[in-house]
Amino acid sequence: MTFVVTDVCIMCKHTDCVEVCPVDCFYEGENTLVIHPDECIDCGVCEPECPIDAILPDTDPAAEKWLEMNRKYSEKWPVITQQKEALPTAEEYKTIPDKMKFFSESPGEGD
Ligand code: SF4
Ligand code: F3S
Repeated sequence: MTFVVTDVCIMCKHTDCVEVCPVDCFYEGENTLVIHPDECIDCGVCEPECPIDAILPDTDPAAEKWLEMNRKYSEKWPVITQQKEALPTAEEYKTIPDKMKFFSESPGEGD
C-alpha cells in the first residue's frame, strides 16, 4: 500500500505534502514530486495537505497509472523534506487537465 502523486502536481509543486511525511519519502523533480512506493507507510497524512488534491491512495482506481512513474523517478530524484515556494506557474496550471505533457524528467534541487 502506498500513496502516489498524480499529474495534478505538475507545474504547481506546492510542497505542503513533504512537511508532514513521517518517513521522508517524497522526491523532487523539476516541476513535480513523486512518492517512493516502497518507503511510504501508507499513513495518509499527506493527502489532505495538498491544496490541489494531487495525492491519491493506491486503492483509488485513478492512482494505478501513476504508480510506476512514482517508483521510477523516486529512484532518480533527490529527497525533499522541507516545504519551499510553489512554482510560479502554480496558479495558472492548477485546473489544467492531463498535465503529463508538461512533465520534466529533470531532477529538482531537493533539500
Ligand atoms: Fe509520507 Fe504518509 Fe504520504 Fe506515504 S502516506 S507519502 S508515508 S505522508
Ligand atoms: Fe504537489 Fe500537492 Fe505536494 S501540488 S508538491 S502533491 S502539496
